[in-house]
Formats: sequence, C-alpha cells, structure tokens
Amino acid sequence: MKLAHLPRTAVFARTALFTALSLASLTPALADQPVSSPDQRAEQLLKRMPLQDMQHMVQSYNDMMTSKQPPGSIGAAGYVPALPKLGIPALQENDAGIGVHNYPIDQGPGKQPAHVRGEAGNATPLPSTLAIAASWNPQVAYAGGRMIGGEAHRQGINVLLAGGINLTREPRDGRTFEYLGEDPLLAARIDGGEIRGIQSQHVISTIKHYALNDQETNRTTVSANIGEQAMRESDLLAFELAIEDGHPGSVMCGYNKVNSVWDCSNKHLLSDILKGDWKYPGWVMTDWGADHGVQDAMAGTDQVSGVDHSTGFSLGQNFSSFGPPLQQALEKGEVPKSRLEDMVHRILRSMYAVGLFEHPPETKPLDVEADALVSQHAAEEGIVLLKNEHAQLPLHKDLKTVAIIGAHADVGVLSGGGSAEVWPIGGPAIPAVKTPDWQWKVYDPSSPMKALQKLLPNAKIVYDDGSDPAKAAAVAKSADVAIVFATQWTCEGVDQPNLALPDNQDALIDAVAAANTHSVVVLENGGPVKMPWLSKVDAVVEAWFPGARGGEAIAGVLTGKVNPSGRLPVTFPQDEQQLPRPQITNALDVDYNIEGAAVGYKWFDKKNLQPLFPFGFGLSYSRFDYSDLHVSAQGDHVTVSFKVSNVGPREGKDVPQVYVSLPGDLGEAPHRLAGFEKVSLQPGQSRTVSVTIDPRLLATFDVSGHQWKIAAGSYPIQVGHSSRDFVLKGEATVAAATMAP
Ligand code: BGC
Repeated sequence: MKLAHLPRTAVFARTALFTALSLASLTPALADQPVSSPDQRAEQLLKRMPLQDMQHMVQSYNDMMTSKQPPGSIGAAGYVPALPKLGIPALQENDAGIGVHNYPIDQGPGKQPAHVRGEAGNATPLPSTLAIAASWNPQVAYAGGRMIGGEAHRQGINVLLAGGINLTREPRDGRTFEYLGEDPLLAARIDGGEIRGIQSQHVISTIKHYALNDQETNRTTVSANIGEQAMRESDLLAFELAIEDGHPGSVMCGYNKVNSVWDCSNKHLLSDILKGDWKYPGWVMTDWGADHGVQDAMAGTDQVSGVDHSTGFSLGQNFSSFGPPLQQALEKGEVPKSRLEDMVHRILRSMYAVGLFEHPPETKPLDVEADALVSQHAAEEGIVLLKNEHAQLPLHKDLKTVAIIGAHADVGVLSGGGSAEVWPIGGPAIPAVKTPDWQWKVYDPSSPMKALQKLLPNAKIVYDDGSDPAKAAAVAKSADVAIVFATQWTCEGVDQPNLALPDNQDALIDAVAAANTHSVVVLENGGPVKMPWLSKVDAVVEAWFPGARGGEAIAGVLTGKVNPSGRLPVTFPQDEQQLPRPQITNALDVDYNIEGAAVGYKWFDKKNLQPLFPFGFGLSYSRFDYSDLHVSAQGDHVTVSFKVSNVGPREGKDVPQVYVSLPGDLGEAPHRLAGFEKVSLQPGQSRTVSVTIDPRLLATFDVSGHQWKIAAGSYPIQVGHSSRDFVLKGEATVAAATMAP
C-alpha cells in the first residue's frame, strides 16, 4: 500500500520561526528555496524543542465541563496551548462529523450551557453522516466536509474530531447515524471525501474510532472479539481505504478493547497495523479519557485527549497517562526519548501537511445561506425512496388537502444527539430536551410543512401532532393524502433496545393508514427500523436526520422537485432475529466472530435471509437500465465497464453497483461491493461507467503469510440496482497475486 503525503499548502519558509513571520517579509532568496516536506519541517522544528515542550504537546485539555479554562482556549473539546517561542500554534479541537458542535465556554458545574439559555447556535448542521453515505456520492461528502471545515476555521478551530467510520455491525448502535454504514468500500469513499473536504480548509480531520467501537453499550469496557483475517477484511479495511483516500492528520483510538486489549493500548492495532503495515504518518490521539496508562505510548498512542486543565486528570481516572506517569517513565528510561520525539514529530507533520502554520483560523462571519444550501443538497442526495405504490409520489400539484402528522413536522426536523450534535443557527425549532444523560434532543428549524406549502401553494395543509392516533386518523380521513412523520432519536452513549419505532408510532401509522388509503410515511431516524405497517402505506421516504434544510429537502422529494437518488448504506432487517446477535447484552465481551467479515448484507446473503430492504436499495421517479458489460482483467487489475441508460420519463441520478464474488468458498459471503458511481442522466440519455476494482476486494487476508492474497480463478462480476437486484453478469479471469498487508 502506498500512502501519499497529506495535502500540502504552498510554503517556502524553512523553519517555524520564519513561518511565524509574514511571508511578505521574507527575502526573495529565502522565499525561492524549495518546499520542504511536512516531515522535513517537523524534523527541523523538533531539533529546537526542549523535552518539556515536547511533553507539552502530547496532551490536550478538555474544557467542556471545567469552569477553569486555560488562557487561549476557545472552550472546545480539546486544547493544546500554543508554543509561541517556537511559532507553534495552539490546537483547538472540536466535534465534528456533521458540523461544528457548540461547546459553550461557560458551562461550569451547575450552570446551564449558554446555548440553552440563549437558544442561539452558530453552525450549520449537515444531515447525519449515514445520510451522506446514503448519497453514495463522495463529492457530496467532500462538499459537506469543506463546508463544516470552513465554518470551523471561521470559529477558531483547527482540528475537527470527524471521520467516524465504525462499520454498522450493530444497527441498534446509538451512533449509527454518525457512521457510514456497513460496507468498507462505500464507507471509505464517503469518509475519504469528507476528510479531504475538511482538510482543504486547513483544519485537521481525525478518523475515528479505531477500532471496532461498534456499539455504545459498555463502550468503555467491552471487548470486541474477532479473528485477524475477519477484521482485516471488514472494519480495518474501511479504515485502511479511507486513510489512503482522505489522509486524515490524526487517528482517534476508541474506548473499547479489541481481543481483550484496550484500543489505545493496542500495539497490534496501532504499531503493527496502522503505523507498520499501513505506514500511517500522522498522530494517534485517544478518545476522551480512553488512555489506560503510560504503556499506551509504547503501544503507539501519541497524545492523550480530554485532560482536565485544573487537575491534570484524565476522564475517569487519575493523572493523564501522558502527564506525570509519562514524565517518570521518561526519567526511568522506560519510554525512550526517541518515542516522545516520534509522538511530537507526528503531530507537527500533520499540522504542516494540512497548513495550520500558514493558515491560522480567523474569526469571520459565516455565509449562512451558502452553507445551508450545501446541507440541503446533501440531504436531497441522501434521502432514499423505499416504497412508492400506485405512483403515490410525487404528490400531485392539484391536491386539495394534505394532512401532515407527527414529529413536529410543522416546525422542524430531528437530529441525533451526543458529541456530533450541532446547535443550529437560530436555535432549535422547539425547546431542546436533555435526555437521557448529557445529550440533547434537538429539532433543526426547517419545517417540512412550510416547505411543502410553498411547493403546493393551492393545497390546504393541516397539521396534527400525532400524540393521539384516533385524532390523527380523523384528520387523515378528510385529506387527499396523509403524510405521517415518524422519528427514532438516537444518540452517543446509548444503544437502541430494538429496531422498533419508539413512542407508539407504529400504532399511529396503522391508524392513519386505516383512515386514508393514500398514506405516506417519512422517517427521520438514526438507523434501520422495523416497519410492521409497510404493506398498509403507499409510500415510504427515508430522510434520516436531514440537517439544516431537511424540511426543504423532504418537501422537494415529496413533490418531485427533487428526484430521489439515495441508496441504503445499511440493510434494513425484518426484525432483530435476523441479526448475528438478536440482542445487545450487557456482556463485557461481544463476539464478532459470529459474522466475521460478513457484516450487514454479507451476513444476510450468506445466511440466505430476506431483509426488509437490502443494502444498496432505493427508488427513483425515473428508471435506469444497464447494458453492454465489459470485464477486462490483466493480472489482478480488473476493470468493469457498462452502459447506464435513463429509460424513464425524467431527469435523475442513479447508482449502479458492481459486486464481485470470490472463487469457490474463498469469500466471507457470496459477494462484496467492488465499485459504484453516481450518474446523472437526462431522459433517454446513456453513459458508459467504468469501475476499477481495488485488488484488496478480490483478495483474502492471509494471516500466516502476512499479506493480501489473490487466488487465480474466475471471479463472477454482477452489476445491479442493489445487493439483491442484479442486471448484468460477467466474470473476470484473475491471475494469482499477493500484496503487502
Ligand atoms: C466521543 C468522541 C468525541 C469526544 C470529544 C467522546 O465521548 O466518543 O467521538 O470526539 O468525546 O467530544
């Protein structure tokens, strides 16, 4: 595997001292000197650093909850003070993946956060990252990353704790909405795009949570147990591909254990695989309070996050592992100085690579409208039309009455809770509720009802809050169409007990569907849900947590202003019994060897289970056909090309998907996603799509040989609309090959 350098900015200065000066003041001779690599620049700076300054850089302070803030901190999740004499800027680290989380600077013990009192937010929420994965469009992810990176930079932030890519092994995971679904290739392409977008704004992005932090239950104590081959071909492959694509400046190690060793103490994950096999050049920061002693330094962790500035304590334990314990270990020689130098080198080289020295964050007003449009576009591409019987959608322009029911759809759309939460500009649509612990349940102020009224100016739109199914049914009965909005609020720290919609919403939908045969369900949810009422409704729109302009995006899809083009990045099971683990238990070990690398659709295919909706599925108001398949194989280089045609009545976007099977019983499942592309086509238009398959998707991980291994043979190739709907079939004859791990 080849790791290119992180994106570089134009730099001429040779030392940090000079970079602290304005470039204009440099003499032409110096300015003409060749650019040094981030590694060379870090090396030079390191030579001038006293030990004490190096130690200073390997901890970040957590100022979320403390009343005593260090000077210079803007009060975000993590802060590494500047070292002015060396020209090293401070690191201001903030969450994250769907936008700039609002950390109120005056949230001390017993105080209400400023944003709760003032109700004012200062950032634009994107749709949930799962919704962005549902766009199957890395350019949408890039644009979103660029937008939130730009907002972060304008708020004084230069590190975003973004890039969550834990695979959806557990659809009840409270953080499913923050991740990118169940397939390593799709997740990596979307994550790579987001990370590149963030870092284009001179804001470092993390990728997290390395690794196998795939459930919230017992997240700080559970051990995810899995064999080496299986993890290399699933969760770790997602990280590997995304790191190659996005070049994140930092990797965040998770709270959990893998095979009984804490993530941040895990030499195998950090030193052998991440920094060894993958040659990752950046730094490893712990999740907040995820350090477990000074041994973490020797395992490969480079920085402890979330240290209390007043006490020097890490969350949940005594002294931060890289505070006094590291100092003593250095004095005793238990941690060599060269290791500390390597830790600091890695931090500095990412700071150089992303341009933190030359492009300090500056407080500037946001372009609120432009940023909201980025968010709306992402939502429009990520909404998935799951069912559309009797061409119920798009809604007819001449509808007289539309009933809108439930989910505060008169004022806003739901968002997910936890550190990924974004307090929206203008404040939430209704007062936020703090539940169940430190998370806030927030509705973004974007009303689907108002947006729909704008697009259907002649219709009478009536709203019912859905709290009483009988009352809602009466409202639905007198309308031409009834649209029920249903929610599943999920958040960091807590898993869902099951896949059911909470709060009696299934009964609400049943009642409405019984009252009106033209019923539509719009889901705003963190992850897959069961739909016992599916056969009774005409249409289902999966809107996820749709962000700042979610209401407009939903109304666009409902009326046909937007032709839906999202595809599921996760399988929707019929029920929990179909999952590898029908229940999430309180056990301190979770056995991922049950499914191994066969995560999500691969499990369903292997076990021949019929899901409610398969991975990759999504409808359009148009129709697309595939033809002219050509598969060419030279050695292990396989290229698949085919024609995509819009054979329907209107312009739209399609996502043709290429799946590959391994010969014999080599693969973990019948087939793997091997490529995809989002294509925009006018009616009657065709385009040839060409997909080159990453050789690792043709390979298995050979543990004893410590390599990827491709077996010689015939590899069935299928092109289709989803993981369960193939149109074209061919095969590639592949030569045997091995690749570095
Ligand atoms: C979460 C991380 C987050 C960090 C800082 C932790 O609880 O797991 O994802 O970046 O807090 O807020």
